[in-house]
Amino acid sequence: MKLKDLYIDFFVSKGHKQIPSAPVVPENDPSVLFNTAGMQPLIPYLMGQPHPYGTRLCDYQKCVRTNDLDNIGDTYHHTFFEMLGNWSLGDYFKDEAIEWSFEFLTKVLNIPLERLAVTVFAGSEDIPFDSESYNKWLSLGIPKERIAKTRDDNFWIAGETGPCGPDSEMFYWRSNDPIPLEFDTEDERWVEVWNDVFMQYEKKSDGSVVELPHKNVDTGMGVERMTAILEGVNDNYASSIWSDVIELISKISNKSYLGNEISMRIIADHLRTAVFILADPAQIKPSNTDQGYILRRLIRRAIRHAKKLEIDINSDWEQEIAKLLLSKYEGYYKELVDNRDVVLNELKNEKVKFNRTLEKGLKQFEKVAKDGKNIDGETAFHLFDTFGFPLELTIELAKEQGLSVDVDGYNNCFKEHQEKSRTASQGRFKGGLAGNSEIETKYHTATHLLNAALKKVIGSSVHQLGSNITEERLRFDFPCDHKLTDEEKKQVQELVNKWIDEAIDVKCEVMKKEDAIKSGAECMFIEKYPDEVTVYSIGDVSKELCGGPHVKNTREIGHFRIKKEESSSAGVRRIKGIID
Ligand code: ALA
Repeated sequence: MKLKDLYIDFFVSKGHKQIPSAPVVPENDPSVLFNTAGMQPLIPYLMGQPHPYGTRLCDYQKCVRTNDLDNIGDTYHHTFFEMLGNWSLGDYFKDEAIEWSFEFLTKVLNIPLERLAVTVFAGSEDIPFDSESYNKWLSLGIPKERIAKTRDDNFWIAGETGPCGPDSEMFYWRSNDPIPLEFDTEDERWVEVWNDVFMQYEKKSDGSVVELPHKNVDTGMGVERMTAILEGVNDNYASSIWSDVIELISKISNKSYLGNEISMRIIADHLRTAVFILADPAQIKPSNTDQGYILRRLIRRAIRHAKKLEIDINSDWEQEIAKLLLSKYEGYYKELVDNRDVVLNELKNEKVKFNRTLEKGLKQFEKVAKDGKNIDGETAFHLFDTFGFPLELTIELAKEQGLSVDVDGYNNCFKEHQEKSRTASQGRFKGGLAGNSEIETKYHTATHLLNAALKKVIGSSVHQLGSNITEERLRFDFPCDHKLTDEEKKQVQELVNKWIDEAIDVKCEVMKKEDAIKSGAECMFIEKYPDEVTVYSIGDVSKELCGGPHVKNTREIGHFRIKKEESSSAGVRRIKGIID
């Protein structure tokens, strides 16, 4: 059985409900580009909101981290990975969490006790030493020499603010060397495999730490790393998760893995991430902004490395690799089945598009790099603007020749260009704002309420996939695997009208993007956001990054009615609603 199945079966046997993986593009947090940890989609529930599945949850969550693409190519960093997690939402706490972690590691995965070590929170000014966890590990048979007390590494928070708490990490001795008696956290032969976070605090933006309504448990175990450990390999790409993909790349390129590791890992890693982003219900396509740009960069970098391996770019190499990746995961993620054609077509389209300019761009690069001069900002921007070379592709090419790139200069050119096109488009769409009539403004706010109501009634997986407003109606598309029942429709409509009747003030805040974008967010392309973003909040009901306009108080909306509920495409439902 695969690790994922063993894990879910184990926690289900301990009274947990398996929840589906949330999409990689966060649903209720437009300020973050991708889910970066298993707990991210669960933040509202860790903060106290009841979860429809109860108080014991487990899942495997798709995560995307693209903040450090430079690391890809080594043996263990991945831009996409799956995180196993089990949660207690105010249910069990340290005792059971640690007991089950131990049982799973030693009884299900059969990891020998002598290869395990753990850390516990040593204590700080505000929060005491975690003696419960310490004693629990001791009672389970972990010797005291293998329990390290640390401070900064044993307090977990996703970013700067939010749910957080002391944690206890588990380590595995990944080496054939004799195992030292004493656990040294600095010794890299000990690799972290699992983290149990005891989330009982919330850190506020003023730095203060307050107790959460419940004491929660949040855990996270990386599938890739644990699989490699269980299979006894030191290179994640040698594990069953990747070995057939690497083999295929090797076959296509007619080159061995040895000596070509970096390019092959980059192709495998980036194409897997691209497959998952393309299959996501958020329907991201390669573009020059936000998630679409990350997707584009991943695909283009994979193409460049394919070229380095002398793969014929015009052949169907990327289709073959993507098909293998799809087949490996489609049993776990239905969206890969539903969106298979989209994934394959978009990969091909992007390849064809980039391939048109790749050769010329590479020639241009060689021309400017020929005399050994560092690449100035204008050249890097020209490579981006004319040949579609994402900045870090140019940086990578430069690095290979021992050259550097003037990133600040590039950013300045980029901003200048953006400014010019913004002015141009403002001129073009002058008068467009006239469309924001009073009734459309009401529909805008009603759309936010509808989104919030659907989340409550259908589940947290609801989010906006598309929205369209006219003077006559609103239209809202969202992911949902079933036709809404009459009861669900009634509940949604009643909830929207309840919020309207509650006469809630709509608050508009203009924030610095840094404040709006929570830490832990993907912010490598932070320059793609405007410096200031507008956030609209409707009491505790809804908070969205949005350009508006909105009514000042929900009572202005009047009365909302669902006119029609229908299918929009596979797994996507569409609601048309009117105000009367
Ligand atoms: N949220 C914790 C982590 O990502 C479990 O390590």
